[in-house]
Amino acid sequence: MDKKVLLIIGGGIAAYKCLELIRQLKARHIGVRVIMTKAAEEFVTPLSVASLSGEKVFNDLFSLTDETEMGHIELSRSADLVVVAPATADLLAKMAVGIANDLATTTLLATNKPVLIAPAMNVRMWEHVATRRNLATLQADGIHVVGPNEGDMACGEFGFGRMAEPLEIVSAIEKFFRSSKLLAGKHVLITAGPTREPIDPVRYISNHSSGKQGYALAKAALDMGATVTLVSGQVELKAPSGVKLIKVETADQMLAACVDLKNIDLAICAAAVADWKVENPAGQKMKKDAKATPPSISFAANPDILKTLSTAKTGRAKLVVGFAAETENVVQNAQEKLKRKGCDMIIANDVSEGVFGTNKNQVHVVTTTTVEPWPALNKSEVATRILELCATLLK
Ligand code: C5P
Repeated sequence: MDKKVLLIIGGGIAAYKCLELIRQLKARHIGVRVIMTKAAEEFVTPLSVASLSGEKVFNDLFSLTDETEMGHIELSRSADLVVVAPATADLLAKMAVGIANDLATTTLLATNKPVLIAPAMNVRMWEHVATRRNLATLQADGIHVVGPNEGDMACGEFGFGRMAEPLEIVSAIEKFFRSSKLLAGKHVLITAGPTREPIDPVRYISNHSSGKQGYALAKAALDMGATVTLVSGQVELKAPSGVKLIKVETADQMLAACVDLKNIDLAICAAAVADWKVENPAGQKMKKDAKATPPSISFAANPDILKTLSTAKTGRAKLVVGFAAETENVVQNAQEKLKRKGCDMIIANDVSEGVFGTNKNQVHVVTTTTVEPWPALNKSEVATRILELCATLLK
């Protein structure tokens, strides 16, 4: 396998397992370059690591020689995957908030490559509310996680916190590399976020969509090697670097941006498009009149983007997927929607229990012949599974 891993070894007792991890990766012809934190050097020596990896070990942000030969930005970009093992509670916390105060954390902040972490820490640290919070943030950011396992700990306690075994980490890395090719050569279109329909130049009608599920889909498609165009309404999220972002406001603009695109293999409409727009938005800010009579607004139907893409006579994407946010009869409504819109798959979610803005989603995947309930998952995990399924169907 012609792949390269940048391994960041954190300062925990599980660091000793990284020697075996490096050996196993090398045996599979996966290149390994290593950064060690200062604390990691208390557990394993750079000499052992360099002997096994066959490469110089990097550990100093301010090393003049290293910075001229292989700067920390270059170091972060020269790999296909960054692996943090053991990912200590300290490293997780720094990654979650973006602290960059040594070579390891600076590299993690500077990288535009996918990151896999193998957490390892005492069970109480693992269960601490701060670690839970940090992990949720990292998962929402699209960071991949392997482990930890349950078992005896070096500190004498028992529970979750043991780093995944080297071969488990190797499997996760290999799985990642396999999935990184799943959508290679495919062009994926994703719509995300809410639309805003103007009432006048300062007011609009919109909805609660955060765009998180759509942005997670864009990130997952990118990780699987696709060319990704993300047509997005106004959200508070940063598009993953590498994605072509087209920002829009209204449903009409979203439709125009979508139909403009050619040769789309897979279109996923995750946007929460307003069903109606204001028929005649005022050109100037509407004023309260002397009697303060509320204005009446008349609405017109917005175009249905999913339906338009699904029923296009020419240039239809090979696979078109829609979402259905429902508060009742989730599956039945999704099946009807599938027919009405003419798409190939509907991802139906029950929004009665507050999905908007959260990091979790529980969906049913509905096609013309199947209904599959999925467990409650992180939105990034939902995204990965949807795209794995789409990749299979596209074959
Ligand atoms: O009709 P409803 O809004 O329930 O359908 C939801 C699905 O249709 C989502 O995939 C959404 O992105 C898409 N949609 C659309 N254009 C609309 C309304 C919904 O693309 N005007």
